[in-house]
Parts: sequence; structure tokens; C-alpha cells
Amino acid sequence: MTNEIITLVTGANRGMGLEIVKELSKKDQQVILGSRDLAKGKAAVSNLNQSIDVVQLDVTDEKSIQEAVEFVTDKYGKLDILINNAGAVFDNRKLPSEITQDSLRDDFNLNFFGLIAVTQAFLPLLKQSSQAKIINISSMMGSMTEALNPKSEVYQASAVGYQASKSALNMYTVQLAKELLKENLPITVNAIDPGMVATEFGGVNPEMAKKMGAKPIEHGVARTIELATDFDNKSTATFTNTNGIVAW
Ligand SMILES: NC(=O)c1ccc[n+]([C@@H]2O[C@H](COP(=O)([O-])OP(=O)(O)OC[C@H]3O[C@@H](n4cnc5c(N)ncnc54)[C@H](OP(=O)(O)O)[C@@H]3O)[C@@H](O)[C@H]2O)c1
Repeated sequence: MTNEIITLVTGANRGMGLEIVKELSKKDQQVILGSRDLAKGKAAVSNLNQSIDVVQLDVTDEKSIQEAVEFVTDKYGKLDILINNAGAVFDNRKLPSEITQDSLRDDFNLNFFGLIAVTQAFLPLLKQSSQAKIINISSMMGSMTEALNPKSEVYQASAVGYQASKSALNMYTVQLAKELLKENLPITVNAIDPGMVATEFGGVNPEMAKKMGAKPIEHGVARTIELATDFDNKSTATFTNTNGIVAW
């Protein structure tokens, strides 16, 4: 089995996922770019002079997940880092009293159920690593503490489906971390808040997002890159951003 660090990033054909792929690849990790549209994933790496693998991976599609697991099993036989980055908001600025069941389900299907399906499917490969990491891209929008803090940058946010799906993935992070710790398995599980970042997230134009105070993509991935490259850091069940600990 290879000694290389094998890293899979979901939802990586654009935005922060693609930036994570580029940066970890430059740091000599063998990165696998997950993209629900294979052509978009291949296009994203076409002008990169690096040996990045591209795999079709729709995190809401069981068959797609299984095929991605088979690809990694056949090619590498292990996975060292799983970065659960795929995510979207389906109920931006909707009032809690008016939000539809459909948008709530869309938020949870992608950000919660999809993330868990991918994580469970790749756990056998993560168990083949001598020190594995699961990094869940969460959001301060999922913090109950910040939602109640009038001074917080997310206090005015209203996307209860998206926010609750991130709170729920935070709880999954904690519970999976505790289970793996109890089993003495060398797999850490942590959640990251990227901050407000200028991507196409929420269907906005990144330039418009910048004008509204969103940070550059490089800033948004900084904490993830730090954690994904720090193999001495065995902390688990944490929620952090570039400023330190984020309140749950
Ligand atoms: N931008 C922010 O301000 C911000 C703040 C806090 C947290 N986050 C989180 O950061 C992560 C990355 O966001 P981003 O800003 O980079 O957003 P983005 O530019 O909109 O990228 C989202 C990525 O997720 C993919 N995706 C959507 N549905 C998918 C599915 N079913 N299966 C696999 N991939 C899927 C998209 O693929 P397609 O191109 O095919 O749609 C795209 O590659 C998300 O989890 C988001 O919740 C973002």
C-alpha cells in the first residue's frame, strides 16, 4: 500500500473544494476531486499540471458513492483524509414560519444525509490508514450560540433548513468522533467554519459577495488546509475557524 497521503474532497469542481484540491495537491498529497458532474470535475483540473484524480461523486446518490468507493479501493486501497465539502443552501432568507418542506428536505439531503452516507461508505478505507482525518465543512450559520448573539455576523441570517443541517452535521461530527475514540481508532473527526467566503455559494456572484464583506477563497480554506496537513494534531470533535474555537 502507498505511503502517500490520499485525500478525497467532495463537491470540488468549483469554489472552496477546488481550492482545497489545488492547495493539498501542491503539498504532495494525492488528491481525488469528487464532482457530481464528471465533465465539470475534469474541466476544473484540465489546466492544472498535477496528477489529480477526478471521480464522479454525487453525495446524494448511493450508487455514485459506491462507485467512488470502488475507484479508491482499486487504485489506493486506503483513504487518509476525507473532506466533506459538498454543500448548498436551498432556503436563503426564507422565514421560519414560511419555509417549505421541500427546501428543508433538500438542505438535509445534501448537507446532512449525503455527508453521512459518504462518511459511512468510506470508513472501511479510512480504517486502512495509519492516521486518518474526517474534516466536515460546516458553518458558523449552524452555531446555536452565534444565532443568539446579536453581535455575531450570522445573527441576521435566516436559512433555518441550511442552518439546522449544519447544526445536525456538527452533532454527527461529535458523535462519530466519540465512537471512533472509544474504539481506539486513529481517525479524527472535526468540523470547520470557513467564514463568509466569496464563491458562487447561494447563487451569488463572487464579486458581489466580496462587496458584501465575503473573504477570498484562500482565506476560506486556510483552516481546512492547516488541519489537513497537521498530522501531529490528534484533536477530535472540535469546531474551529481561523480565529480558533467556534461555539457549537
Ligand atoms: N461560501 C460561504 O460563505 C460558506 C460559508 C460557510 C460554509 N460554507 C460551506 O462550504 C462548503 C463549500 O461551499 P462553497 O462556498 O465552495 O460553495 P459552491 O462554490 O457553491 O460549491 C459547492 C460545491 O458543492 C457541490 N455540490 C452540490 N450538490 C452536490 C451533490 N449532490 N453532490 C456532490 N457535490 C455537490 C457543487 O457542485 P455543482 O457545481 O455540481 O453544483 C459545488 O462543487 C459548503 O459545504 C458550504 O455549506 C460556505
